[in-house]
Amino acid sequence: MPAGAHRVAVIGGDGIGPEVVAEALKVVAAAGVPLETAQFDLGADRYLRTGDVLPDGVLEELRGFDAVLLGAVGPPIGSTAVPPGVLERGLLLRLRFELDLYVNLRPFNGAPGSIGEGADFAVVRENTEGPYAGEGGVLRRGTRYEIATQGSVNTRHGVERCIRYAFGLAESRGGPQHVTLVHKTNVLTYSGDLWQRTFAEVAAERPAVSTRYQHVDAACIFMVERPGDYDVIVTDNLFGDILTDLAGAVAGGIGLAASANLNPARDGPSLFEPVHGAAHDIAGTGRANPLAAIRSAAMMLEHLGESDAAGRITKAVLAEQTEMVRSAAEWSTASVGDAVAGRL
Ligand code: IPM
Ligand code: MN
Repeated sequence: MPAGAHRVAVIGGDGIGPEVVAEALKVVAAAGVPLETAQFDLGADRYLRTGDVLPDGVLEELRGFDAVLLGAVGPPIGSTAVPPGVLERGLLLRLRFELDLYVNLRPFNGAPGSIGEGADFAVVRENTEGPYAGEGGVLRRGTRYEIATQGSVNTRHGVERCIRYAFGLAESRGGPQHVTLVHKTNVLTYSGDLWQRTFAEVAAERPAVSTRYQHVDAACIFMVERPGDYDVIVTDNLFGDILTDLAGAVAGGIGLAASANLNPARDGPSLFEPVHGAAHDIAGTGRANPLAAIRSAAMMLEHLGESDAAGRITKAVLAEQTEMVRSAAEWSTASVGDAVAGRL
C-alpha cells in the first residue's frame, strides 16, 4: 500500500454496479490518488445466497474506513425474490442512518442536447429524516379495516444542519450564491413551517446568499422549463428523491447523475454512489454508462481532501459527457472509463 493511501470500502453490489465501480476505481488510479480498497459483498446476490442484508459486524467494519464507494444494489425489476424494502431499508437506508449521512448531495450539469443544457446546480437532499425515518405502522393488516400510517419526521436539529450545509455550499461552489427551498408548506403545514422558519433564520445570518421558496409541484415545472435558474436547492428527503430523478432526466439522463451521502461532521465515513440502480437488463453487455459512478468517485476524493484530482476528474467527466453526445460514436463501459482516464 502506498503511504497515505485512503482506505475505501467498495460495495460493487448487483447488476451493473461492479462494472461501473471498476471504471471509477480505474479513473481514480489514473488521477494518481492512492487508495487501499477492500471489497464488501452486499446486495441482492448476497441476500439470496445467505439471507444476510447488513450484518452488525460488517457495519462496524465499514465504520473504520475513510469512505465507502457503492455501485448499485437490487434484484432485477419484476423479480419477487427480494421483497420491497429489504435492501432499501436494510442496507441503503440503514447505512445512511447509522453513519449519519445527513446530506445527500446531487450535482447536475446539463449535457448538450438535453433540455437542461448548460444548467449547473446541486440538490441538497435531507437524508436521515422525513417520510424515510420509518415512523408509522399497520393495524388490522389484511382486513377491510386495515390502517397504515407513515409519518414524516422532521427535527429542528436535522433540518437546520441540512439547511446550513446548503448555504455553505452556495457560498463555496462559485455560482450565484443562491438557495431555493423546496417544500409543500401550503399543505404540510407542521413540517413546512419548521423548514421555512429554520430556512429564514439561517438565511438572515448569511446575507450574501439570496434565497427563494418553491412548492415542490411547481418546482417540477420550473425544473423542466428553466433549469438554468437554479444554483443550490435544499429540500426534504422524499421531495429530494423525486426531484433528483427529474433533475437527472432534465440534465441528460440518470446515467450521468452522481451522489454523495455525506457525514459533514466527519465522525465516520461518507458514502458515494451513482443515483441509478442495478440495471440487470444491461449487466454484462458493456452498455452501462460509468460517468455517474466516476463523478461520484470524484466527489469522494473531494471529501477526502484530494481537491485537485477531484476537479480534474469532474472536468474530464463533463468533457467526455459532451463528447459522447456530440460524436454519437460507439462506446462501452470500459471505453468510457479509458477515455475519462485519458483526459486527466
Ligand atoms: C435513491 C434511491 C433510494 C432512495 C432507494 C433505493 C432507497 O431511490 O438513492 O434515490 O429512495 O433514496
Ligand atoms: Mn431515488
